[in-house]
Amino acid sequence: MTERFSGGGFIDDDVEAYIYDLLPARDDVISEIEKQAIERSIPIIGPAVARVLQQYAVAINARRVFEMGSAIGYSTIWLARAVGPAGKVYYTDGGEENAAEARGYFERAGVMDRIEVLTGNSMELIEQVGGEFDLIFNDVDKHQYPEAFQMALPHLRKGGLFITDNVLWSGRVARGDSDKDTEGVRELNRLIYASSDLHSTILPIRDGLAVCLKL
Ligand SMILES: C[S@@+](CC[C@H](N)C(=O)[O-])C[C@H]1O[C@@H](n2cnc3c(N)ncnc32)[C@H](O)[C@@H]1O
Repeated sequence: MTERFSGGGFIDDDVEAYIYDLLPARDDVISEIEKQAIERSIPIIGPAVARVLQQYAVAINARRVFEMGSAIGYSTIWLARAVGPAGKVYYTDGGEENAAEARGYFERAGVMDRIEVLTGNSMELIEQVGGEFDLIFNDVDKHQYPEAFQMALPHLRKGGLFITDNVLWSGRVARGDSDKDTEGVRELNRLIYASSDLHSTILPIRDGLAVCLKL
């Protein structure tokens, strides 16, 4: 299981395996989703990145969270546990089947009451839901990253976090690749460092995680 969640080879394999082996065992629901993700090649963030996401959410006392690209709800559950019973996480995904499956996991995890499940385009849904969020997690299709950034930023409170997965995209962003997904990730990375409204960092964990603090 360790290898399947590890990322772009930015950390030596044995060192990355060491990190994953240190992670505490997950509960039955999270373990079941991890198993499904491996068997069905669903690209979830995995437990090492999930812990970073959850740690940041807890650190800023996040209560209102918007997720762009939630698939079968793995990252959603980690965020829902971070916001606590008074919090709210907006799950958004384009797939009705994903949403139905995610609902089942949310019920089993006991967090359904703090999650709103929305299907459609995350960039349209954030406009429809409106208001400000403490944390926005972006994991939509990679060519849409610049648009996700533009739509998300106005909805992030000052002191809030915009976090994006896969920002090293197996290293392709640093090399000559020019497909639309690589270009999308590369442009997002340019935007987050160019913005004077943000303090941004890239953590080279798994496939790269960008953490942007709104100033
Ligand atoms: C990488 S997966 C998300 C994994 C999830 N964040 C996790 O770690 O558990 C990306 C998901 O985003 C969905 N998606 C991609 N672009 C989208 C968009 N513009 N609006 C809504 N969902 C989108 C895909 O259907 C897919 O289920």
